[in-house]
Amino acid sequence: MYTVSIIGTGYVADFYMRSLQTFPEVKVLKAYDINQQRLKVFADYWHVPTAASLEELLNTSDAQERPMLILNLTNPHAHFTVSKACLEAGYNVYSEKPLSIKMEDAFELHRIAAEKDLYLASAPCSYLSQVAQTVWLAVREKLMGKPLLVYAELDDDFISQAPYQKWISESGAPWPAEDEFKVGCTLEHAGYYLSWLMMIFGPIEKVIAASAEIIKDKLPNNQQTAPDYSTATLFFKCGLIARITCGIVAPHNHGLRIICEQGVIEVNESWNNAAVVKTRRRYVLHRKLINSLFTRKLKLSGPSHPMGPKKGNTKMNFALGPMELLSAIKEQRPPRTSADFALHLNEVTLAIQNARDNTGVQIMKTSCPEQPPMPWAHALKS
Ligand SMILES: NC(=O)c1ccc[n+]([C@@H]2O[C@H](COP(=O)([O-])OP(=O)(O)OC[C@H]3O[C@@H](n4cnc5c(N)ncnc54)[C@H](O)[C@@H]3O)[C@@H](O)[C@H]2O)c1
Repeated sequence: MYTVSIIGTGYVADFYMRSLQTFPEVKVLKAYDINQQRLKVFADYWHVPTAASLEELLNTSDAQERPMLILNLTNPHAHFTVSKACLEAGYNVYSEKPLSIKMEDAFELHRIAAEKDLYLASAPCSYLSQVAQTVWLAVREKLMGKPLLVYAELDDDFISQAPYQKWISESGAPWPAEDEFKVGCTLEHAGYYLSWLMMIFGPIEKVIAASAEIIKDKLPNNQQTAPDYSTATLFFKCGLIARITCGIVAPHNHGLRIICEQGVIEVNESWNNAAVVKTRRRYVLHRKLINSLFTRKLKLSGPSHPMGPKKGNTKMNFALGPMELLSAIKEQRPPRTSADFALHLNEVTLAIQNARDNTGVQIMKTSCPEQPPMPWAHALKS
């Protein structure tokens, strides 16, 4: 049996609860939220015991009530203080993204975890999913030859005109529009492809980015919001170049194209763990260069992982990351969801988010370790 407790029981916590149900070996010991009303609704809906305060959740002397892992599902501005309190109380932590909105705070969390020999990781975890692992296998098998360039898009459409007031989670939490607009789409979403690319191609050495706020009146009373558009060219240590774009203005496009010597590896959705991975060959016919109209759909030779809940565009199992950490804790091995990986992801994401129009070249201070593929991602169906 694996045990977790949850801090922050808002919109995304319902996705976690549904996802955790796909791993019956995980038990949720307790939940806590500063919003007592929300906590009660959540706890009644999911039949989870509650803690009256953060101290009560953390300082229990009853070993049975101490979870193996705490899931920090609070809003980004609270991630640092909540994760820090958990680490200082001796708990392993899996934080929703970003690890922290300030890089110096992310370094501090990383330091405390290392000093206390605790596990620290952050979302997203879709790089552990069937689709991402299939892409990686296609790269490792050199199906299209050497990868040279990547285009990754995370455009979510014109969100400020969407009827988001009607977006309600399963147990009734509203989509936190104000927080989303203040945190910004880059901190919220860039990680969905950055993490795949870091897993496949390793650390990023240099970032040249720009970000801007295109729609200035997303919130009433001139409230300050974050960039709603960003784009970056990423220079990987391995020599690969990637362009990533995030936005909540341009129409929906979650495409990934890995352009290789002999063709392209393609995915059209990062938020679907079971999205189709295709290869498209390039060839010459008479005097023309052609990207084939025909594609090959890649499938793994065996089963991968349980699929998560479906809600709108999102078909992701949010428990893949916590499960990877829990099994690493049990087996006392380095997790794929490592603290170094989370720190590097945080640094690159902040470099893009905060670039605005005048940063120039940013050299990354952090790096990420190599990690093994998931055990089920070893062969493609022929
Ligand atoms: N909304 C989404 O679709 C979505 C999807 C994936 C990931 N996320 C991530 O999940 C995290 C939470 O987002 P959300 O959409 O659930 O927001 P939310 O506002 O709906 O829920 C966050 C909850 O955390 C609670 N909270 C805030 N500070 C706290 C503290 N110090 N102690 C205890 N509880 C605290 C709030 O009261 C709230 O109930 C964010 O990091 C976000 O990036 C959100």
